[in-house]
Amino acid sequence: MNRTATAATHPTSPIARVVARGLLAKEKCLPPYLFYDEAGSRLFEEITTLPEYYPTRVERSILVRYADEIVATAAVGGAFPLHVIELGAGTATKSEIILRAVVARQGHCVFAPVDVSESAIAEATERLAMALPEVSVRPLIMHLDDAYPHIRAIGPRRLVLFIGSSIGNFDDDEAHVILERVRRSLAPGGALLLGTDLRKDPSILIPAYDDTRGVTEAFNKNVLARINRELGGHFDLDRFEHVALWNDERSRIEMHLESVCEQRVAIDALGTEVAFRRGERIHTESSVKYDEARVDAMLGRAGFVRERTFTDPERLFAVHLARVPAR
Ligand code: AVI
Repeated sequence: MNRTATAATHPTSPIARVVARGLLAKEKCLPPYLFYDEAGSRLFEEITTLPEYYPTRVERSILVRYADEIVATAAVGGAFPLHVIELGAGTATKSEIILRAVVARQGHCVFAPVDVSESAIAEATERLAMALPEVSVRPLIMHLDDAYPHIRAIGPRRLVLFIGSSIGNFDDDEAHVILERVRRSLAPGGALLLGTDLRKDPSILIPAYDDTRGVTEAFNKNVLARINRELGGHFDLDRFEHVALWNDERSRIEMHLESVCEQRVAIDALGTEVAFRRGERIHTESSVKYDEARVDAMLGRAGFVRERTFTDPERLFAVHLARVPAR
C-alpha cells in the first residue's frame, strides 16, 4: 500500500481533515453529520420506522393533530403568504403535513428544503410535485452554514422548520450559533418551528438508540464503513461495538463505537494509522433530551420567544412555535 501517494490524492478533502482531527484527538470523536452518506441516510430512514424509535412517529402525530393551529399561529399578523424553509429536510415527509395546512390556508406555498443529500431532496421534490402541486419547491442542496443568505431571499414572510429534534445533535454552543443565524435570517414576526425530544426514563431512551434488529448499530458503524469507502480506511467493523448510554447530568443519549481489542487501523488518505486501546471509544453522537426550561433558555439566548408548545399525551416529544419579536 502506498500511503503517501493515496494521501496526495485527497489533500484537501474536508472529510479527511475532520476524520484526522477527530481520530487523532486524545478523546476520539467524529461529528454526527458524517453518518449521512447515501447508506447512512437509508439506515436513518429505517431507524425512523423502528418500534423502539418513537421520536419520528410521535412528532408526526403532533404535526398531524396541530398542523392547522401551528400554521395559523405562524401566520398571525402578517399580510404576506407564508414561505416555508426546512433545515435538514431529508425527504421532507413530516414537513408535507405542514405544507398541506399552509396550502389549505393560502392556496399555494413556496417550500425551500435545505439538505446536503441530493438524492433525498430529489425524492422530496418528485413526491411533492405529485402530491401537492400547489407547492413550488426551491431546493437548497448545501450545508446549513451556507444556506442562511438564501433563506433571507425566500419571500418576505418565512416559517423555518427545524424538526426531528436535529437540534439535539449539536452541543449548546453549536445549537446557539444555528438558532441565532436562523433568527438573523428572519425578519421580526418571522417564525421557527422547533422539534425537541423530551427527557424521559432511560428504559424508553436506551432501546430507541439500541434496537433489537441492530439498525442503529449499523447506522453508527456506517461512519467507519464510510471512512473505509472514502478515505481508504481499514476498519474491521466487527472489532467495534455499538454503545448507547444515557448521560443524566448532560441530559443526553450518547452513541459511541468501542474498540473490542487493542488495534491499529490504517487510513490511507491520512497516511497514518490510528491506535486504539481495548475498550477505547469514539464518541459519534449526542442526542439531547430537553425540558421546557432548557428549550426556553436556548430559544431566548438566540433572540426567539416561544409562543406555543404542542406535545403528545405522554409528553414524549414537543414541537415549539417560536417568533422573532417585533423590535
Ligand atoms: C437525527 N437525529 C435527531 C437522530 C436522533 O435521535 O438524535 C439521529 C439518530 N441517532 C440514532 N438514532 C437516531
